[in-house]
Amino acid sequence: MKAFILDRYEKKGALRLGDMPDPALGDEDALVEVHAAGLNPLDSKIRDGEFKPILPYRPPFILGHDVAGTVLRVGRRVRRFKPGDAVYARPRDGRVGTLAQFIAINEADVALMPGNISMEQAASIPLVGLTAWQALVERADLRRGQKVLIHAGSGGLGTFAIQLAKHLGATVATTTSTANVALVKSLGADVVIDYKTQDFEKLLSGYDVVLSSLGADTLRKSVGVLKPGGRLISVTGPPDLEFAREQGLGWPMRQLMRLLSFGIRSAARRRHVRYSFLFMHANGDQLERITSLIEAGAIRPVIDRVFPFEGVNEALAYVEAGRSKGKVVVKAPLTVGADGERRDRLPHSWREL
Ligand SMILES: NC(=O)c1ccc[n+]([C@@H]2O[C@H](COP(=O)([O-])OP(=O)(O)OC[C@H]3O[C@@H](n4cnc5c(N)ncnc54)[C@H](OP(=O)(O)O)[C@@H]3O)[C@@H](O)[C@H]2O)c1
Repeated sequence: MKAFILDRYEKKGALRLGDMPDPALGDEDALVEVHAAGLNPLDSKIRDGEFKPILPYRPPFILGHDVAGTVLRVGRRVRRFKPGDAVYARPRDGRVGTLAQFIAINEADVALMPGNISMEQAASIPLVGLTAWQALVERADLRRGQKVLIHAGSGGLGTFAIQLAKHLGATVATTTSTANVALVKSLGADVVIDYKTQDFEKLLSGYDVVLSSLGADTLRKSVGVLKPGGRLISVTGPPDLEFAREQGLGWPMRQLMRLLSFGIRSAARRRHVRYSFLFMHANGDQLERITSLIEAGAIRPVIDRVFPFEGVNEALAYVEAGRSKGKVVVKAPLTVGADGERRDRLPHSWREL
């Protein structure tokens, strides 16, 4: 099959379009034809080699963490899906690679996609949707009437998290630049801090939860926004001991992560708030709950740009620039006919490459 391949870790290195073996179908796997793949900052961070200690993928491998597509075949123990199902997923770590014609995904990571959105819209959801769910529902247990600050509300994660928090009944504050104030308001944000002209730490206080996806400076200032007993959840680090344990990392890495998070944990403790690092994980059941929310109209996908599949490197550069308003997706040309047979010849756009 055709795929975008990472041949070696390299900062800003280009992925190569080439041939890889078709995925092997395990007993618990669904083989999915990729219709669209969502991109995330995680893809470029992995390409740059930043995640090697935690996710030691060995080149050559296929990048890509979000997919929407059609089930072509299922393994013999698969019960929840059948050929023809329209699904979406964030495949588990170690088995990513959605920038390809096909991917085999453990059925526990897959969900039927919402019936009211397109494949491109569906591909934009899994990684950020699950991150928001795992931060706000699973970890923070965010409740009606509580106050949450969601940083970078106009980004991929922020646009989903604002809507989920509003659905849970919370009062939502968010940070964004002047150009994106209208966007985050349209998603339901109650308090919008324009970081170009305002300091959130001077304007907000008494918050129950902060979801931080920015740098160390924002994280440190966020401590002061929380009320005693509040929760500071960061998805951009520093990683903590709990995360090291969950990942099964050895003693040296555990000590390193304890050290890296010492400063922010101490600052949080002084304020009587809890700091934790979140690294999202694949979860088909949670994705199914997200499907229901989208079908009920509680959450809508926010897409900045859809690139053609041959534009993967350009799309990654766009994401890396850090100015996306919502999500960036690539649309794949299809190579399997309605009869389920793989066509001999690739569609025009593939052959040109
Ligand atoms: N640990 C995990 O499981 C996990 C999961 C998801 C994401 N993440 C991480 O979280 C980060 C965000 O992810 P994403 O997908 O949302 O990225 P993204 O879509 O690329 O975020 C871009 C957005 O960030 C906003 N932004 C940049 N600087 C800002 C600032 N100082 N204050 C407020 N907003 C700012 C930009 O708005 P303006 O143009 O208005 O500045 C833009 O809309 C990434 O580092 C990603 O790797 C981690």
